[in-house]
Amino acid sequence: MASEPAIRSKAAGAGVADAPLDELQVADDAHWTRGAPYDLFKRLRSECPVHWSGGIEQYPEEEGFWSVTRADDVHTVSRDWRTYSSASGITALTHSVLPLELQQAMFIGMDPPKHDRLKALFQRGFTPKRIAAHEGAIRAITVDVLARLGDRASCDLVSDVAQPVVSRVIHSFMGIPPEDDADWARLMNSVLAVNDPDLNPGGQRAIMERDVPEIFARCGRLIAERRERPTDDLTSILVHAEIDGERLEEHEIVMGFFLLVAAGNDSTKATYCSGMRALLEDPRQKRMLLDDPSLIPDAVEEALRMYPAFAHFRRTATGDTELGGQAIRKGDKVVMWYVSSNRDEGRYDDADTFDLTRRAEHQAFGAGGRHFCLGTALARLELRVLIEETLKRYPEIEIEGEPLYAETQFVNQLKTLPVRLRPA
Ligand code: HEM
Repeated sequence: MASEPAIRSKAAGAGVADAPLDELQVADDAHWTRGAPYDLFKRLRSECPVHWSGGIEQYPEEEGFWSVTRADDVHTVSRDWRTYSSASGITALTHSVLPLELQQAMFIGMDPPKHDRLKALFQRGFTPKRIAAHEGAIRAITVDVLARLGDRASCDLVSDVAQPVVSRVIHSFMGIPPEDDADWARLMNSVLAVNDPDLNPGGQRAIMERDVPEIFARCGRLIAERRERPTDDLTSILVHAEIDGERLEEHEIVMGFFLLVAAGNDSTKATYCSGMRALLEDPRQKRMLLDDPSLIPDAVEEALRMYPAFAHFRRTATGDTELGGQAIRKGDKVVMWYVSSNRDEGRYDDADTFDLTRRAEHQAFGAGGRHFCLGTALARLELRVLIEETLKRYPEIEIEGEPLYAETQFVNQLKTLPVRLRPA
């Protein structure tokens, strides 16, 4: 499909319901100004579940991609790494987050066998049992961040609560000192939400000219320290890892480090904030949790399903194949939209409704296969503790003003969630 002529985006925003299917461009920024375009994906699931978005007006250098919108097809792509490779970029738009060569230096951007060997370095430390041992520390971090709110009557749940908690947790795993938390959070936010004018005021250029060099410089200092004095943190594991008898190159260590910090940061923050918003918009369900906190893990799973923190990940076809009745050609980009598959009406009744009693499986952490999320146990623990402690301290918490979405097609997140902490 890569050779198809560019199709101009006549169908952005309001035209989603009746525009011809071949004029719909999923990557058109106009669809993404108020979160993920759920109506657009609903239409695709029903009328064209594997859909081609052709040349993209805003991104003329991009050739287009297939959108995979139903859960079964996402599952097929996710499990078959031989046909659907991760080694040619992991986002719908090749350069939307980082240049291709940097994506390929992270194990999320590799195929087996190297992927498996690198991932294996970390898997033992991320089992539910090993992660459970961190509950006390994660709770202490959360309680401390909430306590810093003092007697404030209102706050922004994104920047005042979620960000400092998730940063401190993943940074403590990496060996980043607390005084650097805010700088790393800024770097992760700008790189992952590259098109958002608030999170990344400098645009794509600033990422390459300012942020990536800063990431390399900061990480380089940490690497040098760990070479001298290894500790039990994840940075030390990367620095001293040997794959087939060889140490990792400096840029592979930096990007391995970046992957863990980035994956641990925005994803958990995004899910906590979306889930809290859903609960605050439905006081009946919030009340259920206040009455019976043992239901909080169910609310966490439903937040993951309704608002998967990563809107998508991408693969590239390694040969000609067929998916959902469409002929895919070698080299075509194939995008798994979790924001769509997690609302697939073939799997979920009333899929657009947040219902913490649903107890359904979802694809927020991926749909199985080699790249299934490494951090599921950590994310689930953090989310449970965050919701438990927030509701314990602020049982009357309410939304105060309109939340704002980050303008990105990658991390599905709110950038502000203003709340009233106590009754007025
Ligand atoms: C709510 C929180 C989270 C969500 C929704 C999430 C989601 C995902 C998804 C969808 C993938 C799969 C990508 C693909 O199929 O290509 C992934 C991979 C990954 N996640 Fe998570 N994640 C979360 C939290 C975390 C945390 C806390 C960590 C901590 C280190 C983490 C580390 C990773 C890593 C290293 C990978 C790459 C795995 C691989 O390529 O084999 N994630 N995550």
